[in-house]
Amino acid sequence: MFSCAYMNTTTSSPLLERLSALGDETRTRILALLERSEMTVSELCSVMQIPQPSVSRHLKTLTSDGWIEARADGRSRHYRLADKLEPASLELWRIVREEVAATDPFGSDTERAKGVLQQRRRRSAAFFAEAAGRWDDLRAELFGSSAAFAPLLGLLDPSWTVGDLGTGTGALADTVSPFVRRVVCVDRSDEMLAAARIRLEGRPNVDLRAGELEHLPVEDEELDVAVLALVLHYVVQPATVLAEVRRTLRPGGSIVVVDMRAHQHGVGYLEDMGHVWPGFATDMVERWLTDAGFGAIRLASLRPDLDASGPPLFLASATRK
Ligand SMILES: C[S@@+](CC[C@H](N)C(=O)[O-])C[C@H]1O[C@@H](n2cnc3c(N)ncnc32)[C@H](O)[C@@H]1O
Repeated sequence: MFSCAYMNTTTSSPLLERLSALGDETRTRILALLERSEMTVSELCSVMQIPQPSVSRHLKTLTSDGWIEARADGRSRHYRLADKLEPASLELWRIVREEVAATDPFGSDTERAKGVLQQRRRRSAAFFAEAAGRWDDLRAELFGSSAAFAPLLGLLDPSWTVGDLGTGTGALADTVSPFVRRVVCVDRSDEMLAAARIRLEGRPNVDLRAGELEHLPVEDEELDVAVLALVLHYVVQPATVLAEVRRTLRPGGSIVVVDMRAHQHGVGYLEDMGHVWPGFATDMVERWLTDAGFGAIRLASLRPDLDASGPPLFLASATRK
């Protein structure tokens, strides 16, 4: 005697589960549209000229078979081709699409879809026509005051070691460290370094070092870029410091200085803030940089921030010869 056990043979292949959804022209038209752009149910209805219940029914099938996914936006749902279709399903879809793309409804769908997308662009253009006057405030409110400058971070070279010299509380290192290989922060104030340590905790590529700008605790040619932001006016002999910074830069490396232009804020202001210099004439900074062995010197005044009460700033950049 022997017994025969039947195994449960339900398939777990995502491809087989998805196969049947493609056997319908309307669903393949929907997929072809959603592959190119997200669309709502009503946009699909107007492009395909099919009643909403029918489009909704097909969307339900395509969603449950994993071909498409949706995101909610207020009262609308925006459908798109699923982000993570496995290669076999994508290959299958490519074959089906090639087969049907040249047929009639697909061509007119494509034309009408252009109109729908055009309408959407017009809506966004209309928003900015109305919002131009309040966009700066709106951007700051929605994304923070530094969002306008976020694209500049993409200009940083990921291979760089950046020196943040006179780092203070580490604000620059905080912003820059995710985009470069390493940031070496130097400051002589234990209190400032303690604040920077708290801010930069858990950043493995940030190196905080106690030390003086006049004798930097940095190896010869260790840095690709050295930044002195709002620190030079605390330094008794800027020319000496610039020569010391040059030592730490590789040949061709860059120095960037942001500091105050010469100002008339008075002795009380200098004393209160511990400043040594009442800002700088930019031709003096240019001479110091030249004498310290830098070339390709660029100097620019920075436009004052309307909310700022301090003296206006300049930016100097140069490369180590
Ligand atoms: C005004 S804070 C600017 C900090 C930071 N760079 C910023 O933009 O927020 C100047 C910093 O430079 C440091 N500093 C001033 N002179 C220095 C020197 N000779 N050596 C090292 N650090 C110095 C001060 O301790 C202070 O933290």
